Order: sequence, then structure tokens, then C-alpha cells
Amino acid sequence: MHSPSTNSLEGISPNPSFDFRVKDLSLAPWGRKEIEIAELEMPGLMALRARYGASKPLAGARITGSLHMTLQTAVLIETLVELGADVRWASCNIFSTQDHAAAAVVVGRNGSADSPRGVPVFAWKAETLDEYWELLDLALRFPENKGPNLVVDDGGDACLMLHLGLQAERDSTILDRPTTSDDEAALIRKLKAIRAREPHRWEQATAEWYGVSEETTTGVHRLYRMEKERTLLVPAINVNDSVTKSKFDNLYGCRESLLDGIKRATGVMIAGKKAVVCGFGDVGKGSAESLRGMGARVVISEIDPICALQASMAGYEVRPIDEQVQTADIFVTATGCINVITAEHLAQMKDGAIVCNIGHFDHEIDVAGLKRIPGIRKVEVKPQVDRWVFPDGKSMLLLAEGRLVNLGCAQGHPSFVMSASFSNQVLAQMALWADRFNAQPGVRVLPRNLDEEVARLHLDKLGVKLAKLDERQAEYLGLSPEGPFKTDSYRY
Ligand code: NAD
Ligand code: ADE
Repeated sequence: MHSPSTNSLEGISPNPSFDFRVKDLSLAPWGRKEIEIAELEMPGLMALRARYGASKPLAGARITGSLHMTLQTAVLIETLVELGADVRWASCNIFSTQDHAAAAVVVGRNGSADSPRGVPVFAWKAETLDEYWELLDLALRFPENKGPNLVVDDGGDACLMLHLGLQAERDSTILDRPTTSDDEAALIRKLKAIRAREPHRWEQATAEWYGVSEETTTGVHRLYRMEKERTLLVPAINVNDSVTKSKFDNLYGCRESLLDGIKRATGVMIAGKKAVVCGFGDVGKGSAESLRGMGARVVISEIDPICALQASMAGYEVRPIDEQVQTADIFVTATGCINVITAEHLAQMKDGAIVCNIGHFDHEIDVAGLKRIPGIRKVEVKPQVDRWVFPDGKSMLLLAEGRLVNLGCAQGHPSFVMSASFSNQVLAQMALWADRFNAQPGVRVLPRNLDEEVARLHLDKLGVKLAKLDERQAEYLGLSPEGPFKTDSYRY
């Protein structure tokens, strides 16, 4: 593991000026070449660099990111830096880091392995849970004991750590509550260790915290819950519900990266197989379409009558998972819910079934329950691919230990779609920073004109030419010829 300091899981160097934790800095030249290719496919981020690189609207902002440390994220990080921000980064998943991307970001465009000049990154592929929270803690520590001004969150773990850490400084008994997962238990362990050593750590970390922009559906649910319970400390921008995020990344991104993950992990023939997709939201729609496109017979399991009807009208069979466990070959969870595939389901599956999740957290498949089945045996096929052998001799392939398969077993979504997501992230960070002394805690989305602007930035690359409203048409529709063309409430 490459680290400039003597940091360990026990000790943290105070006020690090340029610390980082990545797997191997010698991977940086490879990472840099792939980042340059990613840039060619990320016109939105490159346009924002061109537009705002000189005026530096993020000058002075300390930004911590907790978001998959991929090649595409590297382009986001370097865009934030080009706009003036001081950035530190950790991943939001133990399996999703691309080590060459992390190394290249640390080394920077003009640095070398001996003299890194980039951005402090704290991430590697296949972290333990304790390392995960340790690395996030480090990403939240700026020099002089300062915390971030802004957070880019994906799933809400950075927000959770900041909120829970601060609450525990006020009432430490909340760290004694029973935990519901290994992830949460590891966070509590970390917070207890910090509290014993640094009783005011989170007061300092949140002293100049002005906002968070959240990337994904699950993280957005966490934010709205905090807003409702009046515990949210800062203004938040829900990036997920920008149309150019959820209707592109969640749908078209997963349409490409789900199968990439399953194929790299198993190489299985999809055609002719029966696949069950749990959840027919944006992610489920993209996942189901890709499986069907490759010739699978796809069955959808849904709880929501509207999404179930949509699935049916798109030509899918719609059945509860319980009716499908014994006959399907491939199972994909895409719900953001818990316990969708239970240990009992797993035990009933046919020999050789492939099970994976593309939702944000790993609790859609009850892996903890699977481990408790008496006589069950895990055989690692390769990293992030395990064959679980039941006492009766049947086996099942579990991908990425139930964590999101497209980032655990492949490289996540392609650059182009991430360019749209991350352009929204940059605009959200700019808005939070510009409003930092005025905005109140609460969750909002970016206005529709910015959503349209993000789309616009991606049209040329695909050779799209827009039709134009003439003045009479614009007047007839009650619109400005420049847009926005739909109201904020319009559902795409
Ligand atoms: P969504 O809310 O649009 O869709 C989820 C669907 O699941 C809903 O239709 C809901 O009714 C259904 N559902 C909930 N519980 C269910 C259950 N027990 N059984 C069957 N159906 C159930 O959310 P989304 O945007 O599609 O996101 C789904 C998950 O994927 C979230 O965790 C999100 O954060 C994550 N996500 C992952 C990626 C990725 O790259 N892996 C990308 C985007 C989003
Ligand atoms: N989420 C899905 N795909 C991703 C990627 N390539 N980079 C960062 N986050 C992602």
C-alpha cells in the first residue's frame, strides 16, 4: 500500500499537508492515459473547465468527495481543482476503486511517483470495512484540523459520519445502540476510537461545513429523512433527481455496466437464460433492458403497482421473487431496499444460479443470513466472485459479495453518461459555494435550465442538432426560445 506518512489504522498524523493512501503509485502512468481517454468522452466536464477555469468559482472551497474512485471520478476531481477547489477524496464502496485512477490523481498531471503533486486520495480496491471508514475519516481531515466546506456524497456515508460523529460528541450513548449491519458496526467502532482520542473532532470538522451534493437515489432518501426529522445540518442538493442524472446514469448507465459486471465475473451466456430483476425503477429498467437485449427471458419483481404496470406494458412478465427462485438462472436486485433476496431464497435456487446486486448498498441480498446457514461453504473463484456450496451439494455464484456488481466486478458506467452526472455535481457544488452564507438546511434540486444546459453540453459529441422554436411558436407555447422547455414538475 502506498502511503507517504506513517498512518495506520490506529494512528492519524495531525495536519497532514499532502498525505494519501492508494495501492500503488507506479500505476499512475497507466491511469493517466486512461483518464485522458475518459476526458474525450466527458464533454460536459471539459466544457465546464473551459467556461469556469479562469474565474475559479470554487476558489477557497475545501471539498471532500465520498464517491467511487474511478477514471470518470478522476475527471470530476480534476475539474473541481481546475475551478479552484482544494479536494480530498475517498471511495463510497470497498470494491469500486480503480487503483490506476487513484494513483494518477495522487501523482497529478505534472508530478511523479517520487514527487506526487495531485490530489490526496484515500482508496484502494478491496478495502476492509474498518479501512473504509478510516479512509473516509482521512478524506474529511484538511490541514490545520479543518473539515470540508462542501461534500460530494454518493450514498450518504460522508454525511452520516459527520452527523453521527457530531451527535455522539453531544451524547455518546448513541454509539451504544445495537447495530444492524457489519458496515454500521465498523462505523461505530471508528467513531468510538476517534471520540476517545479527539473529543471535539466532529465539532471542528463541521464548523465550516456549508453543504452537500448527493449523487444517488439511496443517498437522497437518507437526506430527505434527515430533513423531515430536522437533523440535517446543511443545505443539500439532490443531484440524483436532475433529469440528466437519474434518467441517464441510472437507466442507460446500468444498461451498459450491469452486463459488463456479470460477464467479467462469470462469462456466462445470457441468451436463453431466465433472469429476475427486482425493482423496475430507473436502474431496474436499464438492467432489464440489457438482459432482454442479450436474449434473456426477463421477469420483474415489483412492489409498486405503477412500476409493475410499466414493466408489464414493456412486455415483461411480472411476478413476486418467491415464485421465481427455483427456476431462474440469474438474479439482479435493483431496489434500494433490504432483504429482497433472503437466505431462504438463496437456499432454494437451482444449482449454478448467479446472484448479484446493482443497488447502492449490499443489504438487498441477505449475505449475512447466507453465512449463517449450517454447513455452507464459500469457495473464492477469483476476487469478488464466490461460489457458495450448500450442504446438499448445490452451489450458487455470488458476485461482489452482494455489493454493486457493475463497480465491484467491472468499471462502472462509461465516461459519457458519467459526464452528465458529474456536470450536475460541479454545478451543484458551485451553487452551494455561491450560496454558502445564505442557504438554510434543506434539500433542493438544481433548476431545470441547468438540467437542460447539461444536456446541451452533450449534444455535439453525438451529432445532435436541435430544432428551434420561432417567435410565434415560442409565444404559442408561452416559452422563451432559449428554454427552459419544460416546467420543473415535468416528469421525463
Ligand atoms: P428507484 O426508486 O427509481 O427504483 C427502485 C424500485 O424498486 C422502485 O420502483 C420500488 O418500487 C422497487 N422496490 C423497492 N423495494 C422493492 C422490493 N422489496 N421488491 C421489489 N421491488 C422493490 O431507484 P433507482 O434510481 O432505480 O435506484 C435503485 C438503487 O440503485 C438505489 O440503491 C440507487 O442508489 C442505486 N443506483 C446504483 C447505480 C449503480 O451504478 N450501481 C446507479 C444509480 C443508482
Ligand atoms: N457510478 C456508476 N458508474 C460510475 C463510474 N464509472 N464512476 C463513478 N461512479 C459511478
